[in-house]
Amino acid sequence: MSLKNTIDSYGLISKSFHWIMAFIIIANFILGFFLDDIPVGPYKLLAFGIHKSTGILVLGAIILRIVWKGFNQTPMILSSNRAFVILAKSLHHLFYLMFFVIPVSGWAYSSAAGRAVNFYGLFTLPDLVEKNQEQAKLFDNIHVYSVYFFLGMLVIHIFASLYHHFIQKDKTLRRMWFGNSN
Ligand code: HEM
Ligand code: HEM
Repeated sequence: MSLKNTIDSYGLISKSFHWIMAFIIIANFILGFFLDDIPVGPYKLLAFGIHKSTGILVLGAIILRIVWKGFNQTPMILSSNRAFVILAKSLHHLFYLMFFVIPVSGWAYSSAAGRAVNFYGLFTLPDLVEKNQEQAKLFDNIHVYSVYFFLGMLVIHIFASLYHHFIQKDKTLRRMWFGNSN
């Protein structure tokens, strides 16, 4: 399997970025969702620390992924319907945008709430904004609404790939998976 993409399939690096990041993002989404339910104490602090650090890891990974995308061609969307092609491309680009908006709003919220972000106990990130309760509320809302918007996008994305696989019976899903897609 080639490391780079070709015009009709994804290479090993793009596939690895896709599936490893999908796993980490979904795990962090679930963790974020349960943060409020953890009783106040050391476990809550630990869970917040892991959630925030993992979100920053996603931010770093998305930058590398975009750089890698720049060195690669993107396989053509397998559809003869122009509207679907535009929709699929837009959704893919929107995913990239969301993985700036979601981590940066989380980071800005933490800064505005006066709780600096420490990356897995290794170092502390600079604050993005000054401490300010009103801004904290704003960034909190952006973070929460954008994660739910992302969830809607993900549902469409998964249904679209299952539609290609089971109804259209084309190789859209196979060419994003590991192994031979033909
Ligand atoms: C992959 C990236 C991320 C995902 C998918 C994600 C997802 C979530 C979710 C689902 C929630 C719960 C929302 C709710 O209460 O309904 C949440 C809350 C939270 N997230 Fe994230 N998050 C990410 C990155 C970050 C980052 C980078 C930070 C900070 C550096 C952060 C800080 C927070 C905080 C402080 C809360 C609690 C908000 C509150 O209780 O109102 N998140 N996140
Ligand atoms: C957090 C979860 C996910 C995100 C953020 C995500 C994002 C993306 C993005 C941005 C692309 C465009 C290719 C690229 O730039 O790498 C893509 C392609 C793809 N994704 Fe996902 N994805 C996620 C989860 C999934 C899941 C769970 C499935 C399957 C059930 C899936 C199936 C596919 C397929 C088949 C393609 C190739 C589409 C094509 O070639 O036209 N993705 N995904």
